[in-house]
Amino acid sequence: MMISERLNDAVNSQVGNEFGASIQYVAIAAFFAAEGLNQLAGRFDVQANEERDHALKLVKYLLDTGGRVAIPAIPAPRNEFGSVAEAVALALEQERAVTAQINALMILAVEDRDFAAQNFLNWFVAEQIEEVANMDNLLKVVKRAGEQNLVYVEAYVAGQASQVARGPGEVEGA
Ligand SMILES: [Fe+2]
Ligand SMILES: [Fe+2]
Repeated sequence: MMISERLNDAVNSQVGNEFGASIQYVAIAAFFAAEGLNQLAGRFDVQANEERDHALKLVKYLLDTGGRVAIPAIPAPRNEFGSVAEAVALALEQERAVTAQINALMILAVEDRDFAAQNFLNWFVAEQIEEVANMDNLLKVVKRAGEQNLVYVEAYVAGQASQVARGPGEVEGA
């Protein structure tokens, strides 16, 4: 089944949103790196790559369903943050916004009775649960440590990364 015109347009917008999320994470990673917080920087570099993968997944879906790929302009990310907590809070806000965007795509797919699109979008629905939960958890840890004790957050993030390296499923993804 061919993708509808309006769902095609909405998926193209989401390609832009995912690339936008990706460059926002690059900007956050750069802020952390400049603060000497290399573990946090590494974690957000990984996130940035994941968001790019999400964009490419959407592009592939359009190609597979006879859609038209038209990548929109990507707005500039925010580059300055007053604190580490502020940067992580922005990341959490962004993940919540993406969840709403994915839900809006799903509503179109349901209205279109486009079962292929619903099946495809289910992956993103599940992914957003993880993305929001992980960022919410990181924000709690950052707040609990406080800006003076970010060295503990670095150790925490490093521990998560090494657990992830042991095997997926053993710990919540970075
Ligand atoms: Fe994403
Ligand atoms: Fe994400």
